[in-house]
Amino acid sequence: MKLLYEGKAKKLFAGPDTGTVIQYFKDDATAFNAQKKDTLIGKGILNNYISSCIFEALNQTDIPHHFIRQLSDREQLVKEVQIIPIEVIVRKVAAGSICKRLGLKEGEPLANTLIEFCLKDDSLGDPIISREHIEVMQLADEFEMDAMTSMAYRVTDFLTGLFSMMQIQLIDFKIEFGRLNSVGGFHEVILADEISPDNCRLWDMKTNEKLDKDRFRRDLGGLIESYTDIANRMSLKLPELKAEL
Ligand code: TMP
Repeated sequence: MKLLYEGKAKKLFAGPDTGTVIQYFKDDATAFNAQKKDTLIGKGILNNYISSCIFEALNQTDIPHHFIRQLSDREQLVKEVQIIPIEVIVRKVAAGSICKRLGLKEGEPLANTLIEFCLKDDSLGDPIISREHIEVMQLADEFEMDAMTSMAYRVTDFLTGLFSMMQIQLIDFKIEFGRLNSVGGFHEVILADEISPDNCRLWDMKTNEKLDKDRFRRDLGGLIESYTDIANRMSLKLPELKAEL
């Protein structure tokens, strides 16, 4: 397979048909802009199963996305898009960087769902940017920004409901969007990347136990057990968690 791109947690390979890409989930875990790194056996498999299930469930909505189907334990077939270099972060409860930045207390519900934009650039540490920065840097146009913002709210409602059925509270998450190649100059903006406990904060509703990548970021241990717990609550039939070949 032809490697197109290697990220921190995934590799992208050319897909079988034009306009398709194979997304391969690695076991690598990074945090704090890759200053902290490890390999957690089976994480890629768990994220592939969890993200595939979430994107399949998104078919119940009219939110357009890149997911076509899961191909194997670590691979999924997706539509080829040009990723818009903006990380869209949605927060419902204060946690993580917003607590450090603004002095909010972790676990405090926010008055409204908050959307933040970060520049997707590891060398700059993914800095937070405003709509005005996005306009000046021409990262996305006004229509794309409106589309991403309204989709982010719809994804939030959808994920909140999905996780609450599993007794999980959605605290915050990060999503990315891509431009679908099309003829005639018009590009549809669709949800891309992954939705997994690597890029969502998910707390058990009763105990507030962290079930997401904060287990790695904060050295809490038990990341694989927590991701497996999420997969089990989603009733996913998991394979044996083996190391990558
Ligand atoms: P933050 O509190 O560190 O800004 O993270 C907010 C949410 O975004 C959290 O669910 C983790 C996710 N996230 C990513 O998926 N990738 C990243 O590079 C960062 C910084 C956060």
